[in-house]
This record gives sequence, structure tokens and C-alpha cells, in this order.
Amino acid sequence: MATTDTTMQGGGGYDRHAGVQRLSAEFALPLLRRAAQEAALPRDARAVVLADYGSATGANSVTAVAVAIEALRARTPAPILCFHEDQPKNDFRTLLETIASGPQSYLREHEGVFACAIGKSFYEPVLPPGFVDVGWSAAAAHWLSPAPAPIGVLLAAPTPGLAAGTSLWEQARRDWRRFVELRQTELRPGGRMVVVVATVDDDGICGGEHAYDFLQAAVARLVAEGDLSVAERAGMFIPLFFLPRADLESPFSKGLRLLDHVRVVASDPLWSAFERSGDTDAFATGFTGWLRAHTEPCLFGALAQRTEEERRRLADRVYGEVASAVRDHPEVVHCPWRMAALLFGKSN
Ligand SMILES: C[S@@+](CC[C@H](N)C(=O)[O-])C[C@H]1O[C@@H](n2cnc3c(N)ncnc32)[C@H](O)[C@@H]1O
Repeated sequence: MATTDTTMQGGGGYDRHAGVQRLSAEFALPLLRRAAQEAALPRDARAVVLADYGSATGANSVTAVAVAIEALRARTPAPILCFHEDQPKNDFRTLLETIASGPQSYLREHEGVFACAIGKSFYEPVLPPGFVDVGWSAAAAHWLSPAPAPIGVLLAAPTPGLAAGTSLWEQARRDWRRFVELRQTELRPGGRMVVVVATVDDDGICGGEHAYDFLQAAVARLVAEGDLSVAERAGMFIPLFFLPRADLESPFSKGLRLLDHVRVVASDPLWSAFERSGDTDAFATGFTGWLRAHTEPCLFGALAQRTEEERRRLADRVYGEVASAVRDHPEVVHCPWRMAALLFGKSN
């Protein structure tokens, strides 16, 4: 059975529109620095291992990883080996170019640092047991493991009415436990990891409740006008789920201690720019670019019977409609995302 493609837009498309993800994870960089300062370092000659899980095409990852490299370099002259992991369909060519020669390339900035990429789901083992000294994952572990299509709803997120009565919340809990257990195995004793995810607060608010409303409406219009079949629509699914504090903290115990859990309301950089400029067109373009970069592969990639040209035409129409709805009602898509960063450490 076909499964949803949860990779990001390739060819630099994601990186051009990943400012929302970058700023929503920025508050966690001090935790990553702390992780790199506290992790037990190898006593033998082997390289220190950094792992970045769900790196996409790298523009945000390289700046975060550079923070950890700096903290590690202050402690040891040992070689540092950075693994960037994402799903096999990720655009690894862009990722590797960004790491090697992008403007923020840590390889150009630091001596004795090496990088490689892994194409495998982080819901499976991706590195050997007891191998990783410092781990990082930003804006990735709230993507569910593949759900069989068709699933019937457009968005998995725990917005009122959608999560109720579905098993998606259970799947999100299972996925999170599995993600944490796998990382526990991969961490070396004394290793540290920071994971940043979107979350919901105690009132069940994620801050982006209406981020996908215009998209839902535009896809529904395609069906109403006969340009998309009901069966095709049923296979279109954005498997994002944001767990509350208690679920996020539940997998930790003595063997893997939760050392810190920082929660913030992230400021929405697109909205802040709009408030400064009042430029509705620029806001609509920025918002739609961000939305398309992370939802086009999973939504339109599901239309397996269509040619690439047809998929692009349908996507152009849908995201074009989203942009004009945003121009008319920008306030609807102001998204003060609730974010959580968890720092955990494997016991010695
Ligand atoms: C929004 S991007 C975040 C990228 C980057 N960490 C950042 O901060 O900009 C989410 C990434 O998680 C990856 N991802 C989602 N599910 C995954 C899985 N099961 N295994 C590995 N990566 C996954 C996607 O492919 C995507 O590249």
C-alpha cells in the first residue's frame, strides 16, 4: 500500500522557506551547546560522533550543528564526525552541497570535522548501538511514521475535531516512544541529545490551529469542481501530530534521564515581518512558500496516477488559492507555535 511522502521540497525549496522552522528551534541552541559541553567524550582515539536526525536539505541543520561543534572543539582536538540523517527520498544532493560549500558550511569553518549522510527513517535504527555522543533533531520528530493511505483526513494535527475519534494520537505516542528508545540505544553511555518538536499547551493549543485551513478549503474545492476524485483526496494526508507535555515526558526513566524540558511560544517570523512592513503580498508569498515547502510532497506526491505536470498544475492552483485567501485574511494564519525542546542523557 502507498504511504505518504513526508520529505520536504528539494532543490533548495525547503531551505528558502525554512525560516519558520529555524526561528522556532533557535531557543533550543543553548540546550544543544549544553549537551555538547556535558556529553562524556571518548577516552580512546575515536572521533566524537554528532548525529542530526531529520536534517532535510541542511540549511538549518548546519547552523545548529556548528553550535555543537564549537562547544566540542573547546573541549577536545579529536576529529568530529557528523551524521545527517533523513528519509531515502530526501534531496541528499542539496544537503551535501550545503554542508560542503553553503554559506554556513561548518566544514569550511572548522578543521578536523567530517560529514556524511544517512538515508533511512528515524523510526528504525540508523546508527550502531552506543555510537552517538551528541544528538540533535529539530522540527522532525512530530512527523508521524508512515500511515497507510488513504486515511481520510488532510491533517493529523490535534486540532479540535480531527484527533477526536482517530487513532492518530495513539500512533503519535507510539512513534515518539519508538523514536526515543532508538536514540537511547544509539547514544553512547554519557551521551546527550536535544529534540525540538511542536507541542500543544495545557489547553490543547498548538498555535497553528488555522495554518492549514485555506489549504483544506482549496483541496476541497478541487474535489467539488471535479478536478480531484474523492479517492485521490482520501490519499492526501499531512501526518503532523503535536504531543502535550505529559506524552513527551513519558518515555524517560533512569536509563535515559530527561535533564531539561524548555517550552516556548515561538514568535512567527513571517507575521513579525508583516507587522513591520504591512506588505500583504509579501506575507502571502512567504506564508504560502513555507506551507508548500513542507506539504507539497506529502499531498501531491500521493497522486500516483497523475503525471508530474498534472501534479504541478494542481499544486499551483491550490497554493495560488491559498495565497489569495491569505491576502484577504492574513490574520487567520498568524502562527505563534508552541514549541518544546527536550534535553536528555544516557546514564553511564
Ligand atoms: C520540517 S523538516 C526539518 C528539517 C530540519 N531539521 C530543520 O530544522 O529545518 C522535517 C524533516 O524531518 C524528516 N522526517 C520526517 N519523518 C522522518 C522519518 N521517519 N525519518 C527521518 N526523517 C524524517 C523530513 O524528511 C524532513 O526533512
